[in-house]
Order: sequence, then structure tokens, then C-alpha cells
Amino acid sequence: MRAARQMAGSAMSGAASLLPSEPPAEDLFDPRHYAGVRRPLLEAETPPPWIYTSQVFYQREVERMFRRDWQFLGRTEQVPEPGDYFSVEFAGVPLIIVRGQDNVVRAFANTCRHRGSLLLDAGKGHCKAIVCPYHSWTYTLDGRLAGTPDMDRTEGFRAEDYPLLPIRLETWAGFMFVNFDPQAGSLAAYLGDLDQKVGMYGLDDMVLARRREYVIGCNWKLWVENAKESYHIATVHKRTINRYASAKSAGYAVEQADGQYCVTFASHDTSMALLHGDAGFPVNERLIGRREAAGTCAPLIYPSTYLACTIDCAWYLEVHPLGPTSMRLVHGALFPRERLGRPEFEQLAANYYKRWDITTDEDIVASERQQKGLGSPYALAGRFSHREPLVHAIDNWILDRVLG
Ligand code: FES
Ligand SMILES: [Fe+2]
Repeated sequence: MRAARQMAGSAMSGAASLLPSEPPAEDLFDPRHYAGVRRPLLEAETPPPWIYTSQVFYQREVERMFRRDWQFLGRTEQVPEPGDYFSVEFAGVPLIIVRGQDNVVRAFANTCRHRGSLLLDAGKGHCKAIVCPYHSWTYTLDGRLAGTPDMDRTEGFRAEDYPLLPIRLETWAGFMFVNFDPQAGSLAAYLGDLDQKVGMYGLDDMVLARRREYVIGCNWKLWVENAKESYHIATVHKRTINRYASAKSAGYAVEQADGQYCVTFASHDTSMALLHGDAGFPVNERLIGRREAAGTCAPLIYPSTYLACTIDCAWYLEVHPLGPTSMRLVHGALFPRERLGRPEFEQLAANYYKRWDITTDEDIVASERQQKGLGSPYALAGRFSHREPLVHAIDNWILDRVLG
């Protein structure tokens, strides 16, 4: 079968022949294609390249992961006051996140119950009610249909039968997660013991100081894999954060995780969020006397949310799949609330933003380059280094979902 040809191809040292890169749809999820990824790390192969390019594979990920698992969608302080909202499309579903008059943050499908118009355009804002831009059906902030012009002659029509459709939204440590699956377990059950790993940072008492969006020309998995390996740092970030490059010197360790996440702890001296020599904030007071005062704890909440908690701040990478070869990245910068009140806040925060912006740009170049290489009919499965245990773990978690 083709998987066998792929493996034979990967072992060939001479000229390779042009191989069809993606099996037909009816054969795409045959576990035999992925047997090489299922082996232990140092015996394993990297996934077949088509998982990063195939529309069929992508659609399966949307069905089995993005519309079933808990998905990270930002911080509650993005909607601080009743009436504040933002609208975003996630995995093909237009959504509204809005804070109600009762101070509860809710998510709704951003689709009018009359004839289906989008209600709010992408972006953020403030409103007293959600008014459809097509025929002015009007919904309260908690989703009830309250205004229906010229519907009085429509037989049997009752406004209470046409509320906005709610999407499950739960919060953890100031982070919002949505889930499209009414049968899914709670967010707390999904995250498991993550709180024990990062509770000491006081994330719920941090503030989103800056939020930056990017659209990137790569499969979402490439970004996530990149975020959880330090192997590329010596090459891709050789001019910026190379001091974290060596597994030995940085003391990277994969730690036990009991929940839908994986996590590393890296020991080091100064903040991982600064370039060498730049001034920053003091160590987060909550960490003094703990090992976390000298390192960075970085969970990846499956499938696609990266969080890094370092000695003086935290940051997150929110990854939205846009298709097989494109994704949206949101970079969020979090600082302890007290820091934002300091007169020197903007000046010092600029050093952190500089570091994040430069390294994000470096990772974008690497990931888009990798996407182009993987799109070639000559792309074949490769092998992992011992420096890539979480790439292997992430790929296997995804295969469990997609094939299972
Ligand atoms: S589609 Fe919304 S009011 Fe008609
Ligand atoms: Fe990187």
C-alpha cells in the first residue's frame, strides 16, 4: 500500500520518484498510514506530509476536535463591561462573545434566527442589544428575541421560539473557552490538574496588556509543534533567544500532565520574555521562594492553545485554524495587575513586546517555509530528534482524535 511506499521512499538514499502525496479520501484515515508516528519517539516517523495540506484531513480535525473539544477564545477582560462584545469566526462557526447586563459572559452563534444573516461583523464593540443589520430583529444581551418588526401577521410565530443559539462558554483563570458539543464534559474536567501546575502564577489576577493578531500561511499544527520544541531555537532564533537553545543549559523538562494538555518546565535565570540585557519588571512576588521564580512553565492545552508563564509575566498563543494551509494567531501579553499602574509600565512593557514580535516573526518565516516544503510531491515522512518529544506527543494526540 501507499504507506509502505512512503516508508520505502523515506529510506531511499538515491533519487526519489514523484509520489502521489495524499491517499484518496476513502483511504485517508486508515491507521496503517500513521503506524510510523505511533511508535515510540526515537523509533517513530514524523507524520505523512498530507496531514498538513489535505482539505479532507482538515475537515476531519474540525469535526473531531475543533467542534468537540474546549477551545480557547481569549480573556474575560476583552469584554469588561455589560454590553461589551467581540465577534470572531472559529473553525468555520461565526460567534458572538458578549457580557450581559447580569455581568455573565456568554457565547452565541452569530447567525440571525430570521433568515440567517450575520448579526455582528468581525471585531469588537459595545451595544445595548444585538440588532440584525438585515431586517432589524433585535436580541437582548442574554440572547432573547425582543424585537420583531412586522411579524404580527405571521401565524403561530412566537418570539420566544427564536432566541440566539447559545454556545457553551466556561472560564478558567480569566481565560474563556467555548465548546460546540452539548455532550462534552466540563472545562474543569478537560483541564484536569493544570491548575496545580500554574495556579501559583495568579493568572486570574493578570491583565491582558496587549493583543496582537496575525494570519499565517501554514497549517495550525505546524505552529503548535513549533511552540513545543526547543530544537529549532539555536537555528531559527540564533540572534534573539539562543541562550535557551540547549536542552542541557536551559534545563527543559517535560512534566507529567493529568488532563488534556502537555507541559514543560525550563530552568533559567532571567525572564524568558526579554532579550538579553533588556530591562524588565521584578519577579512576580507570588513566585518568590518557589522554583517557578527561576524558570518558565509552558503548557500546551490541546489542541492548540500555548501558554507560557515566566518569572515576571505570561503570554499565550491562541491558534485558530482557517483551513489546511492557513491559520490565525492571537498573541496575548499578560502582566500582574499591579504592574500596569506603574509609571514606567509602557516603557518596560515595550521590551517584552519587542522580544515577542521579533521571535514571532522568526517563527512565522520558519513555519511558512515548512508549509511550502511539505506541499511538495517530494515531501516524505522524516524522523524525530530526542529534542522533539512533545511534537511526537501532540501528533499522537491528534491522531487519537482524528482516527479514533
Ligand atoms: S435575517 Fe436577521 S432580521 Fe432578517
Ligand atoms: Fe520559535
